[in-house]
Formats: sequence, structure tokens, C-alpha cells
Amino acid sequence: MRDAYCGMIRKEDTGRTVTLAGWVFRRRDHGGLIFVDLRDVTGIVQVVFSPEISRQAHERAGDIRSEYVIKAVGKVERRPSETENLNIPTGEIEVYISDFEILNTCKVLPFQLEDEEIGEAVRLKYRYLDMRRPEVQKVFIERSKAYRVTRDYLLSKGFYEFETPLLTKSTPEGARDFVVPSRLNTGMFYALPQSPQLFKQLLMMSGFERYFQIARCFRDEDLRADRQPEFTQIDIEMSFVDREDVMSVNEGLIIALYEALKGKKPPEVPFPRMSYAEAMEKYGSDKPDLRFDLPIVDLTAIFLKTELGVFKKTIETGGAVKSFVLKGKTLSRKDLDTAVDTAKDLGAGGLIWIRKDAEGLQSPIVKFLSDEERSQMTSILGLEPGDVVFIMADKRPKVSDLMGRFRLHIGEKYDLIDRSLDKFLWVIDFPLLEYSEEEKRYVARHHPFTSPKEKLAGFEGDHESILANAYDLVFNGVELGGGSIRIHRMEDQSEMFRLLNIGEEEASDKFGFLLEALEMGAPPHGGIAFGFDRIIMMFLGLPSIRDVIPFPKTQKGSCLLTGAPSKVAQRQLNELKIKAIAD
Ligand code: AMO
Repeated sequence: MRDAYCGMIRKEDTGRTVTLAGWVFRRRDHGGLIFVDLRDVTGIVQVVFSPEISRQAHERAGDIRSEYVIKAVGKVERRPSETENLNIPTGEIEVYISDFEILNTCKVLPFQLEDEEIGEAVRLKYRYLDMRRPEVQKVFIERSKAYRVTRDYLLSKGFYEFETPLLTKSTPEGARDFVVPSRLNTGMFYALPQSPQLFKQLLMMSGFERYFQIARCFRDEDLRADRQPEFTQIDIEMSFVDREDVMSVNEGLIIALYEALKGKKPPEVPFPRMSYAEAMEKYGSDKPDLRFDLPIVDLTAIFLKTELGVFKKTIETGGAVKSFVLKGKTLSRKDLDTAVDTAKDLGAGGLIWIRKDAEGLQSPIVKFLSDEERSQMTSILGLEPGDVVFIMADKRPKVSDLMGRFRLHIGEKYDLIDRSLDKFLWVIDFPLLEYSEEEKRYVARHHPFTSPKEKLAGFEGDHESILANAYDLVFNGVELGGGSIRIHRMEDQSEMFRLLNIGEEEASDKFGFLLEALEMGAPPHGGIAFGFDRIIMMFLGLPSIRDVIPFPKTQKGSCLLTGAPSKVAQRQLNELKIKAIAD
């Protein structure tokens, strides 16, 4: 239909006759001349209807409205210098139309494409219109580029691409499954995969050695700005590798994606690393945002003999006193009260603040502190006049987590985050197990096939001290991916189930097929999965994962465009022998 694209015409094309096709973006009728910004996927070009070129075309151009689809033939001309627009790539030329055809008309749209204030609900209901907007289109063109970069990189490293089943059995990622009833097997359900974890391990047992998949995953969990119920992973598994091999190949992949989407090299290569223990201790998070400092400092040692009730009680019961110092900001009493309220909203029992001024430390609680405690605090924290110390005291993992979240809040609120920085971080040496209050037993922190860094056989010590051969990649405080070296021998797997208190029957019911395969020559293997949507969102600097998914779900898991989820016909339920008990 056409021989040129709107966004690609340049001054070098001057004099050329082109046939264009696209949408009418803006139309300005200047009486004598009608100007139309014609848009296709490559961009926008200004076309001009002039009675001097074609009286007939100029007359008919009066009928054109926004978002009409047209095909037009015209001659490329240099714009007069005073009307050049150097903000757009085609701003030095315009196309004088000699003939055109209306391919389709368009009703009045529910919103103007140029309106930047449209609510997300309307945008999602009419996502196909929302996506016509050049800035939204650019996101998906970049996303498409990212698929290609991923494939090119992995194929060049000897990986094979696979697809694994979507109708499958529950996988071990630990969120809630979406289930699909089976008509042919009454009363039975498939689970949609939370990840291809078990299949990719089986592919190692099949001998493929290097697997990847751009895989759709499904998790029925509470949604947030960086979570969708269905999302895409770059899923990877490798045989005959150790942790370093997996991390270095995958660091290469992330660098290739970063360079493609950001057009520059990452600031620090190889990516820095931090142990889980250090991340929790210093930043109260296993995905620390290193774009600002504000490290957490443990003050427990100073207060071992304190008279201050809340510290005393916490320390006596094995808890900790943690703090950080906000420097260079003037905080009013009201700001401090607000900080206390925020800490409580985050779940803290309370927050203590201490201000340092010329006379010394100021706070409702300083009178309870000994001279020794005050001077130790001042020197350990390096306090200077104007500084504000925030302190929380609570049980150990809880106080770290609370301080971590409070640190992020203060970082945002006082604009401490340097948004010009990009900070990658590998977090390594995660604990293998964590205690589940809900299940009253230890559960695998990652999944039960993650290998420990030490031998489990005969292990009787503190469960929480065992480290896993696992790693996460963090970018600006968001987890982009995570993986591990797996257990590849049945003896070790049985030891793991022993620690997890998973009986033989439960293990065989859930993952029997994998366990059987472990006994038939499974090679040492390990892998990782990255959140593809998250990578795009973070590298393009967008605030929500919904911005990078063509047809995303809302926070409540519904699709405003199609109306899913919806009721199904009674006939379908009958066929499945399912009775709905709630409306
Ligand atoms: P994990 O559960 O850590 O590991 O998931 C890997 C990455 O997937 C992304 N992700 C999500 N993205 C959007 N919405 C969600 N609901 C969501 N959940 C997870 C994150 C996360 O880092 N099978 C293991 C990997 C392995 O061990 O190889 C797994 O799925 O970016």
C-alpha cells in the first residue's frame, strides 16, 4: 500500500514522491492550507493539502477527522526555515499531497490521545487506543527489541530455546496456584505454572545442558506496582556449572539488555556483590536500594546496661536496637511526629528520634540515657549538630525489616535517592530455610531443590545458619531475578526433605517425577529466572509493571478491556461437573 514510512522521511528525500499510510494525529485548517500530522508506527510527518497542488484533494481534506486512516501520495519538500521543527526527526520537511484515499473513518474517541491526564481505568479499557500514543508505542517497540537481544545473546552462548506446558501440576514457587478444571478427568485440576522450574530441571536431565525460555508464569498473589498475576520470565538452566558460571553468563545477558534499552554501559562491571546477612544488617532488606546511603547501625551493644525501659526489655528478650542518621535536613517537631506515625503505620511499636544540636542530644527520652550511652552513641554514629537519629527496638528479623522499610520511606520523603544513578547488586548466600509461622515448620526460602553450601547429612545445628547456593540480582532496590544451584543427587534431596519435615509420601506426591529423574543420572545443574517485565519497566524508568504489558490486569486481577474474569455458562460448569457455591 505504501512505499515510505511517516517517521523515516528526511531532508535527503526532498523531491521524492512518496505514498504514505497511517492515522490522522492532528489536523489544522488554515483556510488556504490544511496541515495534517500523519502517524504510523515509525513516527509522525507533516502533510500539507494545498489547492495549488490539488484542488480536489484540498477540498476532500476538509472531511478528514482525528484518527481517520488514510493513504496519501505526495511530494517531499523542504519546509521554509521559519517553520522547521527540530524537535522531531521529520521536522525539516513536509509532504505536499496530490491525492489521497480515506481507508477508514473513526468515531469520536473516548479520550484525546494527546491528553496526558486520562485515568488508568479508561486507558486500560481502551488499551488499543492508549497504545496508539507514540510514547506508549515506544515502550512496546523497546520490549520487542529486548526479546531479540535476549534470544541473540543466549543463542550465541549455546542455549536451546524451549516451551514447557502451561497445563501442568503445581510448581514449588510457593504462591497460590491458578487452577484449571479438566473435563476429561472429572474432579481433577491442572495448575498453571508459577514458573517452569521442574521442567527446566528435567531438560537438564534430558541432556540439553543449556536451556532458556521466555516463559509466561502465573501466580495468584496480592498485586503491587511490580507484580502481575501473569508475567514473563527469562528462564534459564545450565548443566555442569557452579554459581560463578551461572552468574557470569547471566550478568552478560543483563548488560546486553541494559545497553540495548539504555543506550549506555552499566556504571559498574562486574556487578558488586553483597551477602544476604550484610544486606539485612545494613539496609534491612534483601534487595537494598544503593542509590542512597543511610546505613542502618546496630546500637544494641551500647545499651546492654540501659535504664531505658523499651531498650532494656527488647535486649533482655534477645531483640536489637537499630538506628540510622539523617543528615543535612531541618526537621520540625511536626516532621518528627509524622515520622513516628509513619513508623507505626509500617508496623513498628514505636520510633525514637534524637536530634543533635549545639548543646547536645535533644529528645523526650534523653533524660533516661546515661552520659556514657550518649557519648558512645555520638561517637559511633559520628553525630554532628543538625543530625537526626531514628531508632527502633524490636525482635531481630522484625526490627531489620521495619528499619529497612522506614529507611526507604525517609529516602523518598527527603529526596535522598539519586535518580541519575543505576545500582546493580548481586545478593548471595541466602539462608536455605526460613521458619513459617503459618505452617509451624521450616520451609525452603527459595524452593526445596536449592542446594545448600554445606553438607546436610548429619546436620543437627541451627537450621537458620545453613546458607544456600542461591543468588538474586537487584537493580535500584527491585529484585530483577533469582536462582540457585540445584540439588542433583537423591541422597541430598532426601536430607533436604528431612530438614523441611516433608515426608516421603508428600514428596513423591508433589514432585515424584523429578525425584525419580534425580536417580537416573541427573547432572549437576543450576539456573536463574529474571522478571522480563520488571527488567523493561526498570530499564525504561517506568513506575508500574502495567506500563510494559500490552494488556495488563488491574490491582484486583481483572482485565478492563475483555472483562475477564467473568462467569461461565451453566453448561460449561455442568460439563466440568463443577457447582459454584458462592456468587
Ligand atoms: P522467582 O520466584 O524468584 O524464581 O521469580 C523470578 C523473577 O520473576 C519475577 N517475578 C514477577 N514479576 C512480575 N510479577 C510477579 N508476580 C512476579 N513474581 C516473580 C521477579 C523474580 O525475581 N523458578 C525460580 C527461578 C530459579 O530458581 O531458577 C523462580 O521463579 O523478577
